Amino acid sequence: MHGAIRRSSSFNTDRIDGIYQDPQTSDRSLFLHHTDLVDGVGLVNLLRDVQPDEVYHLAAQSHVRVSFEMPHYTGLTTGLGTAQLLEAIRAADVPCRFYQASSSEMFGATPPPQNEHTPFHPRSPYGAAKVYAYWLAVNYREAYGMFAVNGILFNHESPRRGETFVTRKITRAVARIAAGVQDRLYLGNLDAVRDWGYAPEYVEGMWRMLQQDQPDDYVLATGVPMTVRAFAAAAFERVGLEMEKYLAHDARYERPAEVDALIGDAGKALGTFGWAAQVHGVDLVHLMVEADIKALDDQLSGRTIRIDR
Ligand code: GDD
Repeated sequence: MHGAIRRSSSFNTDRIDGIYQDPQTSDRSLFLHHTDLVDGVGLVNLLRDVQPDEVYHLAAQSHVRVSFEMPHYTGLTTGLGTAQLLEAIRAADVPCRFYQASSSEMFGATPPPQNEHTPFHPRSPYGAAKVYAYWLAVNYREAYGMFAVNGILFNHESPRRGETFVTRKITRAVARIAAGVQDRLYLGNLDAVRDWGYAPEYVEGMWRMLQQDQPDDYVLATGVPMTVRAFAAAAFERVGLEMEKYLAHDARYERPAEVDALIGDAGKALGTFGWAAQVHGVDLVHLMVEADIKALDDQLSGRTIRIDR
């Protein structure tokens, strides 16, 4: 397996600690390469050297709120970066299957339930860039016969979720408040409805999409709605604290245009390759809170060792 990572002056592989292998490891099965979606020639060279069977294009500036602050950069990476990668595949002449990480953010203002036939109405520069990338994947399928697939994934979460997305921000804060190392949790819009699933199940769904005989586009979702408020309430309830005592509002976390409700219909994925989400709702909240309690406990007791690489 080969992975592409951005160069950083500090270590940036902690979220793959579980599978990371040092370059000195004999019979290594994971190889990481520095690259970037704006480095077109580098992408061609990498693809030519690696000759992948499958390419999972997950790279993006993926934070919706940040995309309002950096619309041009978001368009360059999330949108045009997809063009760079698709062209690099053609230039390197690699007959690989291609997975495009499309997003339920593309549905934006279109009311739920959303499925593969729902019109797109993005509500952020990020959503608009993802719509462009979606159609590019469809276009390369139609124009060049590429095995290009759009996975339209609704929010998928886990203990590895980045700390600035709302689920992890909440579960991490709840663990810290319960341990007495944080006083308050500041959030924006509590009324937004999301369809939160468990990321490992979604990754299996992505892989299944690329194992089909024909390329196509699929929604992955739980179909179970939950508000941000309900997610936070379940997290505080898990540690026996009253949410109202700790939750505060900060308008900085609101967006100039909001996506009010995302609730997916994954019937096509179920009918085609038997995929259905198992973990959602309060079970997902508790799983994430418990993981953050353990991580904090390890950190506070000095058991967490930063791995140098
Ligand atoms: N991040 C964040 N921080 N969101 C907040 C906060 C806060 O303090 N307070 C309220 N929210 C609300 C947001 O306004 C939004 O309605 C909801 O919580 C979820 O926000 P995020 O967790 O940032 O996720 P997202 O739904 O905007 O986008 C995620 O899911 C998409 C798939 O639908 C990202 O992972 C995208 O990259 C992904 O495409």
